[in-house]
Amino acid sequence: MSSATDALPEIGSIEPNRHGYRTFTLGSFGFSRDEYFAHVTWPKGHHLLPVDAFLRALQRDIAWGFFYGIVNFDTVIGTVNHYGSVDLFAGRFNAHYKKAGLDHVERFKTPLIQRVFEAMLEDWTNATFDPFASPQETGSAFGPKNGSNKRAITRHRVTAKRMVAAPGDEPVRTDENGFPVNRAFRDVPQDQPHITAEPGFEDEVVAFNLFAYLSRSDVTWNPSIVSVCKASLYCPTTEEYVLPVIHGNDRVEWFVQLSDEIQWEVEDRETGAVRARVTMRAGDVAAMPADIRHRGFSPKRSMLLVWENASPGLPQLYASGTMPPTPVQF
Ligand code: PHB
Ligand code: FE
Repeated sequence: MSSATDALPEIGSIEPNRHGYRTFTLGSFGFSRDEYFAHVTWPKGHHLLPVDAFLRALQRDIAWGFFYGIVNFDTVIGTVNHYGSVDLFAGRFNAHYKKAGLDHVERFKTPLIQRVFEAMLEDWTNATFDPFASPQETGSAFGPKNGSNKRAITRHRVTAKRMVAAPGDEPVRTDENGFPVNRAFRDVPQDQPHITAEPGFEDEVVAFNLFAYLSRSDVTWNPSIVSVCKASLYCPTTEEYVLPVIHGNDRVEWFVQLSDEIQWEVEDRETGAVRARVTMRAGDVAAMPADIRHRGFSPKRSMLLVWENASPGLPQLYASGTMPPTPVQF
């Protein structure tokens, strides 16, 4: 007989600890949780993070397939995507851990780290907590083990193949398919564009109301791909409270602030040294350099367009210095 549970002893204990949670291992890293914290150990150190922040970061790392470049859970723990394998690190992008020789990195095949992360997210997320929701729209992550929330944690990032509303592609969000307008976006008009196509082109001319679509997003800090043109991906998202990860870019990405306001903390990707504080209001556009890491703060739910270039050759072009880290040199 082979099943997921048969495979569990390799990656962690089945027996819960005294708080009711399983512990996990990945290479020489160990993970455990108590009522308030996630604890991470490695041969030369240990660290702890508030468990709500840890689960929000873990959820996104899994849902985004380890994303572009680096996903820092905080200033110590995180992952680097090598697109096929993934580094799990402690202190690797922290100047002080590096100086003290306490940093540690191990590389895993993507399916293995994914399996451990998914098992941990499932076991450590209580029935009351939705890691994708804003703090005001979910209950507590804390306390002893209390059920599970599989429906919330298995939501997938929406990824259109051509464009939302195109035949055979992602549908427009409506009340009928379970996406009510969010409390913060009740003033957003819900009308859809009228399309008058030349005869014979009725299936090829497509339009939808992006603001109405985003007003119905039930998640925060989770870009949906709404249009694809070769490697150019439009990934808009709705943001509230704090981006649960500090993202280290491996390419330039463009931000278009579609509504309200987000403040960004921009730091050096390698050391964490502060580089800039960027306040973006509706209509502002920024190009985030390829050698930074950043974290956003959104005081009210806002709409952000993240424009990604998914060309697989880009990280190497930036890493080798063939391309400068900013699209414009001043
Ligand atoms: C980013 O780090 O570029 C990023 C990630 C998720 C978001 C917004 C921006 O929701
Ligand atoms: Fe980013």
